[in-house]
Amino acid sequence: MQTPTNTSSTFIELEEKYGAHNYHPLPVVLDRGESVYVWDVEGKKYYDFLSAYSAVNQGHSHPKIVNALVDQAQKLALTSRAFYSSKLGEYEKKITELFGFDKVLPMNSGAEAVETALKIARKWSYEVKGIHENAAKIIVCENNFHGRTTTIVSFSSDSDAHDNYGPYTPGFVKIPYNDLESLRSVLEKDSENIAAFLVEPIQGEAGVYVPDEGFLKGASELCKKHNVLFIADEVQTGIARTGKLIACHHENVQPDILILGKALSGGMYPVSAVLADDHIMNVIQPGQHGSTFGGNPLACAVAMAALDVVEDEKLSERAENLGEIFRSEMKKLIEKTDLITQVRGKGLLNAILINDTPESSTAWNICLKLRDNGLLAKPTHGNIIRLAPPLVITEEQLLDCVRIIEKTVLEYKK
Ligand SMILES: Cc1ncc(COP(=O)(O)O)c(C=O)c1O
Repeated sequence: MQTPTNTSSTFIELEEKYGAHNYHPLPVVLDRGESVYVWDVEGKKYYDFLSAYSAVNQGHSHPKIVNALVDQAQKLALTSRAFYSSKLGEYEKKITELFGFDKVLPMNSGAEAVETALKIARKWSYEVKGIHENAAKIIVCENNFHGRTTTIVSFSSDSDAHDNYGPYTPGFVKIPYNDLESLRSVLEKDSENIAAFLVEPIQGEAGVYVPDEGFLKGASELCKKHNVLFIADEVQTGIARTGKLIACHHENVQPDILILGKALSGGMYPVSAVLADDHIMNVIQPGQHGSTFGGNPLACAVAMAALDVVEDEKLSERAENLGEIFRSEMKKLIEKTDLITQVRGKGLLNAILINDTPESSTAWNICLKLRDNGLLAKPTHGNIIRLAPPLVITEEQLLDCVRIIEKTVLEYKK
């Protein structure tokens, strides 16, 4: 099945005609999801190996999260922050205790949470660190992905994300990822003007780049030494995906500012958060930042249920164990084919590198074949295929998926 059927094509045509063309979806039209599976409009069942870019860690329509959503929607969905609610404080207590911070600032999308963290860092740098007005700089990494706002794309190295959206927000210094020496050198030259270092503990969108062991620890120590905030963007790596509650925990690092999104709601609803201790978060006072929907009762109920599922079902441990199995199976496959040259990742955030140029359509064509064989994945940056199933996947299901990937790759002809 190389082309979709009529039913699918009707839906595809609708999106093509009436929707902005800001995505290039794989041709499959999804209609239903449950746990690790999704079904298309013709009723064909697939394993979901993207998990909505790691938002659906708890699996599709997890009953506990659905119940929380429905119960709260029937009671009270939105108050705005003009009033207190009976859910927000309870949620704030839970998330701050779980991640070990004094305070949380609730937002909705990942990009909004990144913006929030940047604003907090800048404000802290002027009001606490004492940087001269408008002189604050934030260090970021090449090939980062932190979202799509005008400020965030200002420091993107991806031309699709960046070009023709100027004028750009100044105040960002780019260094290579996984390069402690560059970080040290920028900090030593200019630390009095640097507010923060913003980093993804694993670069997800860039193609699942795992830094060398010690990078996060070393970076956080350098930041501490120079009175610079270490900001971890764990929108994609957080909430058990890499085998720990947050990826920074692999190196026992507690960031100064932690950014969460995606799986904070189990993919049920847009919920994001910025966490920090009082000496940082208290720079934000009433009226200085906010969002109509941020911290609404529905979001709070959903996020609490989503975090409960992570704990109850031991999703970090599952991701850690199953990730080891998955990578070792992929390594066996690499022995049998020239088509894959590498598998990399942590926990259940993994990618395989296809033996062709980033401009080639090989990875895309393999994803089409994977789809035909019942598994959905998507290339990132041309020749990399990210493989990230919901963390509720069982070992048996995972091995079934390994068989699908193996069959697809071994049968693939250019
Ligand atoms: C590390 C990281 N930060 C931020 C974002 C942006 O999140 P959102 O798409 O919810 O705005 C993403 C999305 O992929 C991400 O991977």
